[in-house]
Amino acid sequence: MFKTRITELFGIQYPIIGGTMMHLAMADYTAAVSEAGGLGVLASANFKDMGLFRQALKDIKQKTQKPFAVNLNFFPALNQIDNNLSLDVMIDEGVRIVESSGHRAPEDLIGRVKKAGMKLMHKCVGVRYAKKAESIGADAITVVGYENGGATGTLDITTLCLVPRVVDSVKVPVIGGGGIGDGRGMAAVLALGAEGVILGTKLLLAAETPLHPEIKKRLCEASELDTQLILRSLGNTHRVWKNETTLKVAELEAKGAALEDLLPFISGMITKEKFQQASDGGMLACGQGIGLCRQVKPMAELLRDLAGEAQAALKRLNRLLPD
Ligand SMILES: Cc1cc2nc3c(=O)[nH]c(=O)nc-3n(C[C@H](O)[C@H](O)[C@H](O)COP(=O)(O)O)c2cc1C
Repeated sequence: MFKTRITELFGIQYPIIGGTMMHLAMADYTAAVSEAGGLGVLASANFKDMGLFRQALKDIKQKTQKPFAVNLNFFPALNQIDNNLSLDVMIDEGVRIVESSGHRAPEDLIGRVKKAGMKLMHKCVGVRYAKKAESIGADAITVVGYENGGATGTLDITTLCLVPRVVDSVKVPVIGGGGIGDGRGMAAVLALGAEGVILGTKLLLAAETPLHPEIKKRLCEASELDTQLILRSLGNTHRVWKNETTLKVAELEAKGAALEDLLPFISGMITKEKFQQASDGGMLACGQGIGLCRQVKPMAELLRDLAGEAQAALKRLNRLLPD
């Protein structure tokens, strides 16, 4: 249905990347995206134990024969994992595609990635970061506008402006996202010149995503007004689902709270636990596209519907053109 440099580069059916997600992008989620025809991205940062990381890679390969990727995390973290150790395991297990994301391009690891014959896509939020990643040898660039769920950086550029700017600034294929809630958004990002799209928020509602059903139900009722930016005071701005936890974090930040005061609300352990409870969901990254997400569906149906809607949107636009 869609043929782009991204579908060719990664050998996937749909030009859809299933955004990596802290605590959620485990083996089941990753395999489900790939098996559905997109590219699933396992979050290596979920695995401090390299034995469990290796097992997750084996699990994915057992669940799907299709291509998948692994994210290497370059965001600041309290308990930083050595990406070199993750890369050792990835090379050993034959991972073919790497995604890097965070506050810098993976200059220190690109040599190893290339030597192992892996493809690299780097995710960022601005033109200069995209150009930097291309200059060190990234095979594709992912950019997300600040509507997106998760880290937004500090530039605050919308998807509508950022994607074409990056498309015009690099030669490698671009994957665009931030705020895609349905196939119309997917078609729009492709119209901006991207050759692939990335979604995170929409996939929170996939049946295979390991979030408590009660949280998914509440997300189905959320609108585009139900997200907020937090953690800017720590230089780590995130767009999250607005709830009791995040309103408290924002209140503390406004009072000049230090990291220690915020930790009881934002620590990884607490966040992870809350995802499994019928609670307020804790600090759950979530983009403005949530206002367009209304139904929990199996991943295969979700991706099929998305691609179908995008195709319908493109046909509708075509009909607007007189012969
Ligand atoms: C719950 C959640 C967790 C995420 N965790 C990460 C992460 O650990 N690393 C990362 O690079 N991106 C992370 N993201 C961002 C996604 O991979 C993707 O870039 C983003 O969700 C796309 O924008 P959208 O949410 O508007 O679709 C996360 C997103 C969500 C919704």
